[in-house]
Amino acid sequence: MDSFIIEGGRPLKGTLRVSGSKNAALPILIATLLTDEACEIDNVPNLRDIRTTFRLLESLGKRIEYDGDAVRVLARGRLETRAPYEIVKQMRASVLVAGPLLGRFGTVRVPIPGGCAIGMRPIDIHISGFKALGATEHEETGDAVLKAARLKGRRVRLRFPSVGATENLMMAACLASGTTVISNAAQEPEIEDLGAFLNKMGGEVIGAGTGVVTVKGDRRLRGGQHAVIPDRVETGTLLLAVAATGGSARLEGACADHLKAVLDKLSAAGGRIRSGYGFIDVSMASRPKAVGIKTLPHPGFPTDLQAPWMSLMCLARGSCLVVETVFENRYLHAGELVRMGAGIQVRGSVARVSGRPSLSGAPVMASDIRGGAALVVAALAAHGKTKIQRVYHIDRGYERLEVRLRRLGARIRRVRE
Ligand code: UD1
Repeated sequence: MDSFIIEGGRPLKGTLRVSGSKNAALPILIATLLTDEACEIDNVPNLRDIRTTFRLLESLGKRIEYDGDAVRVLARGRLETRAPYEIVKQMRASVLVAGPLLGRFGTVRVPIPGGCAIGMRPIDIHISGFKALGATEHEETGDAVLKAARLKGRRVRLRFPSVGATENLMMAACLASGTTVISNAAQEPEIEDLGAFLNKMGGEVIGAGTGVVTVKGDRRLRGGQHAVIPDRVETGTLLLAVAATGGSARLEGACADHLKAVLDKLSAAGGRIRSGYGFIDVSMASRPKAVGIKTLPHPGFPTDLQAPWMSLMCLARGSCLVVETVFENRYLHAGELVRMGAGIQVRGSVARVSGRPSLSGAPVMASDIRGGAALVVAALAAHGKTKIQRVYHIDRGYERLEVRLRRLGARIRRVRE
């Protein structure tokens, strides 16, 4: 298992290009199950979750070719309609195969993902959406088995704007008969990107990225080419790392429109932000001011940046509240930050963060992707040496983070044990 060794206390400086979005690339790669024709997806980040998605698609009968960040997904024969548990247990987003396979073949069997470090994460909203389109569901040895002679376009209102459920239903609805209208849909930029790809495949998806998504069915989807949007979570993590170290940097290829809530908070905390087409500049000249956040579905403050924000606030003048409303158990990083000298008290979904003038390096452990990234942010700012264990969590969502941070002057290296 790999660890990071970080010698902190150096302001990050320079220019870095951000990667393609993991959370956009996953559903887009999975949407290729809607056709037998070749699809080319560009700007795909080289990450563990993406490699897991390749294995998932291969296990279902696709062939994958890739060259750098360009991926081609090709047909190999008839597709399977059963997703392997071995893969689903590693990556919950695997349940997104349900929509395209159910829509295309009228049957699919997916293992119900168990809970994970940050919460129970049920898939009831996905299932009730499929049922609203006319599918039946029963459970068999831990799998959800969905069937429908032909899905029928309907009005579906989600009880919560789940990102995955919105994506699953959009993909299924392209092949249903008639029109589907998904209301209380998730509005994340990754959903807009999936909608754009489905339209390139010959679908007709209107309003993806807003609260109401209309999908005209009865389509036969073709192959398509698409470049994935930049990763707003990676961008946000890097912005917060630069700010926490009192540095100044330019993130090229970044999209400020996707990060409005975060940039507003970062400005309120004293960060200087300048953005234009395809770049965001950030600098932080002094200790940040304490600014509270509450995570919400997009366009609210993203839950995926709650942990890195908390790391920045550990160094703020004053204290603030961090409120997590999307996942029920997303404070695993807090205890590790306390080991580095942070003042954090967690009560249920609310954390009170009392800023300190500095943090100090310590051995700590990552337990989820974004919580792990938050430890990197804290370690870069801390005095002394930090060892972060279980870096495989971070590798799921950040492409060679240590190599990229070194380009900004960070002292970080990976050690294999
Ligand atoms: C996606 C992102 C993840 C991000 C999350 C919220 C991907 C691959 N992952 O995850 O990085 O943190 O959005 O922005 O895009 N829920 C239910 N029942 C359901 C579905 C969800 O109760 O059927 C709950 C979840 O337990 C969670 C909340 O709704 O508490 C949000 O989940 P959801 O929006 O579905 O997140 P994911 O698509 O899993």
